[in-house]
Amino acid sequence: MALSKALDAFTAEIDAVLDEFIESPDGPEARLFEAMRYAVLLGGKRLRPYLVVASADMFGVRRACSMRVAAAVEMVHAYSLVHDDLPCMDDDDLRRGHPATHKKFDEATAVLAGDTLLTQAFEILAGHETHEMAEVRSDLVHALALAAGGHGMTGGQMIDLLAEDQTFELPQITRLQAMKTGALLAFACEAGAILGRASGAQRMALHGYAHDLGLAFQIKDDLLDIEGDAATVGKRVGKDAAAGKATFVSILGVERARQQAQMLADQAAAHLHDFGADADQLRALARFVVERES
Ligand code: IPE
Ligand code: IPE
Ligand code: MG
Ligand code: MG
Ligand code: MG
Repeated sequence: MALSKALDAFTAEIDAVLDEFIESPDGPEARLFEAMRYAVLLGGKRLRPYLVVASADMFGVRRACSMRVAAAVEMVHAYSLVHDDLPCMDDDDLRRGHPATHKKFDEATAVLAGDTLLTQAFEILAGHETHEMAEVRSDLVHALALAAGGHGMTGGQMIDLLAEDQTFELPQITRLQAMKTGALLAFACEAGAILGRASGAQRMALHGYAHDLGLAFQIKDDLLDIEGDAATVGKRVGKDAAAGKATFVSILGVERARQQAQMLADQAAAHLHDFGADADQLRALARFVVERES
């Protein structure tokens, strides 16, 4: 797949940026930074930072700017995974093919590493080098705060935990997934438009793309939990069913879930019509999201 080559090349670039952002200081706090580096630099598909840069490229944004926003989004994502794996949440010990951060270090260090990644992401967005206009920087900070907060990711995580012992129907699962996973993916797509000072219509088109992509992505995540194997997926599988968690797959069944994911990926790509060939990277990503095996 051409896109997996592009993602590999991109991973090397974004990893160099992340490596530079997360220092390795001496002193007693060094352990915190080691845990942050462990959580961020070891593996991961880098889909969110790729989305930031691919959408920013459509508006001619300088890479020096979009890579900073890309790094910030990946830090927030990595923080969410570190906390998601904690015993008090999903209690998972394998992440990205390696022991989860709380297993490699300890729970308190994992909590602090997550907190610090989240905080540093905002420090990066607010930095002058992110964009010369303060208004753009403040829009980015505001949009990421909304996406990662109680009406977005953490709110979704709260409902997800409740989904273990409540009966949820499709509309509620859709809302939960849109918050838990969709909001941050949507920020990644829209960040490029914010940086590039895109028109309202262009932002709406990207918003539509992100919405459908996010749902397709999460349905595939749920499918991989049932059909994937841990060695390829890099995390424990079968955990949603074991926890009795309502997911798209538990409600729709495997076949309909697969069709739904494919339909959403096509629909995501259709939102990009007006961008023409400039949006080819984003179209390819929509296909990749439902075809991926990890
Ligand atoms: C996994 O996200 C967690 C969810 C939001 C479902 P990814 O599948 O993007 O994880 P990495 O970054 O590649 O490890
Ligand atoms: C995690 O969802 C979503 C966030 C971390 C916000 P999952 O719990 O389904 O992710 P995996 O399957 O552990 O990667
Ligand atoms: Mg979870
Ligand atoms: Mg989990
Ligand atoms: Mg999952």
